[in-house]
Order: sequence, then C-alpha cells, then structure tokens
Amino acid sequence: MYSADPALLGGWGGWSIILFLIPLYYARFHWDEVVKLREAFNKTVDLLSNTIDAKDSHTFLHSERVTAIASALARSHGLDAAQIHTIEKGSRIHDIGKIGIPDAILFKPGSLTEEEYNIIKKHPEYGVHLLEPASDYLNETFDIIKYHHERWDGRGYPEGLAGQEIPLWARIVGLADAYEAMTAGRPYQKAKSPEDALQEIEDLAGIQFDPKLVRAFREIWETNPTWRDREVFLRLYSSKVPSLESSSPFSSEPEPETSLKSN
Ligand SMILES: [Fe+2]
Repeated sequence: MYSADPALLGGWGGWSIILFLIPLYYARFHWDEVVKLREAFNKTVDLLSNTIDAKDSHTFLHSERVTAIASALARSHGLDAAQIHTIEKGSRIHDIGKIGIPDAILFKPGSLTEEEYNIIKKHPEYGVHLLEPASDYLNETFDIIKYHHERWDGRGYPEGLAGQEIPLWARIVGLADAYEAMTAGRPYQKAKSPEDALQEIEDLAGIQFDPKLVRAFREIWETNPTWRDREVFLRLYSSKVPSLESSSPFSSEPEPETSLKSN
C-alpha cells in the first residue's frame, strides 16, 4: 500500500502505515488491561488470605504451608505453570468460607459435637457463595474451595464425590491440607510427627486420598522439603509473621477425616 502507484489514500503512503499501527495499538492496549486485571485479582486473593489471617492468626501459616505442599505435589504431577498457579491461588483461600462459621465453634477448645461439626462442614459452600461475584475469574479455584474435603471413597463433603469425580486440583489441596492438619495438631489432639503423618496418609491411600497422588507425595516428602517438618516451616516464616511469637490457639476445625477409625 505504501509503495502503490498511484499512491493510495490521498496520495500519501504514510496512511497505510498508520492503518497498520491502529490494530497493533489496540492489541497492546488490550494486553495491558489483561495484565492489570490479573494483578488486581492476585492482590484480591492476598486480601482474602489476609482476611482469613485476621480471623485466626494461625490460619495464615496453615494456608501458606498447604500452598507449599500442594504446589510441590502439582509440580511433581506434571501440571503446567498456569495450573500450578491456580492451585497455589486456591490453596491460599481454600478455607475462606470459615469466615461464615461462628467463632464459638471455630475456636472451641474441645472436641466438636456432631451438630457443631455439621456447621463446620458448611465452610466449603460458604466459601463458594462468598466468592460468587468473582466467578468469572476463579474457575478452577472454585473447585478447590468447594471440594477440598471430598474423599476418594465418596464419604467426604459437601457432595460425596468419589475418585476421579473429584477435580484433580481439589484432590491435591485436600491431601496437602490433611498432612498440614495432622502435623499441626489441635487443642484436643497432639500433632503427629512427619513420619507418622506420612504413614497415615499412606494408610489412607485409596480410602481418603488418590493413590497416585499418595505415591507422588511420598517421593517429594523424601526429598526433605521445607514444608515436611512444621517447626522448620514456622521458623522460616516467623520473620514474616510477628504474631507468631505470641502463640494463640489453633482453630478447632477438625483435621480432615484422617483417622482410620472414621472409616
Ligand atoms: Fe477446609
């Protein structure tokens, strides 16, 4: 167009260059907007994570450690960078629905009654409801929030999905969540050693957890990652979280049904 003879568009070839640049400019503008939107959303996830933290100072480290474990598990499972990012995002806010649980139940120092436990079991659905306005941006993150307490044998909640019916992201975060809960303990339940927790995870392969994920979990656990031992992980993060110095009680959410007795 620039060199056409006779020259197009009023005899000046430069118009053709301007016409060529307009779509390039809009493509660039659109991409900038997408990047800004993504950054804003990531900040929103941080904000939500801080909101859970404000409710229970220990939940932050719980979510952080679950995120570290789930991320390693996702990587060893061959998931790509975008999928790993989704899992990390979902792990950080998987318990966002706890905001809807009364403090008297969430921080109860003793064992929960059946009725109280039934209220706790609503937190995955509360979480989805809470984030409904952002559903366009959350996609698989919703699956993590909603299904991280489902079990391989179909005896989990909220829907009782079984096996491959449970989205892979939720299976990964569910396993990471269980290991973190076992090694963290509860006011009424002593924390397990990393070795005992690994043994329990393996005993529950094919019952509560995806057996393939359990095999991958054992492999990465043996490489001695920082998240394996909770004390090591806490030391690493204590500089980031000053409130750690004044230890407060753990949330009384029962650890995900990990005991063989419950089967
Ligand atoms: Fe949970």
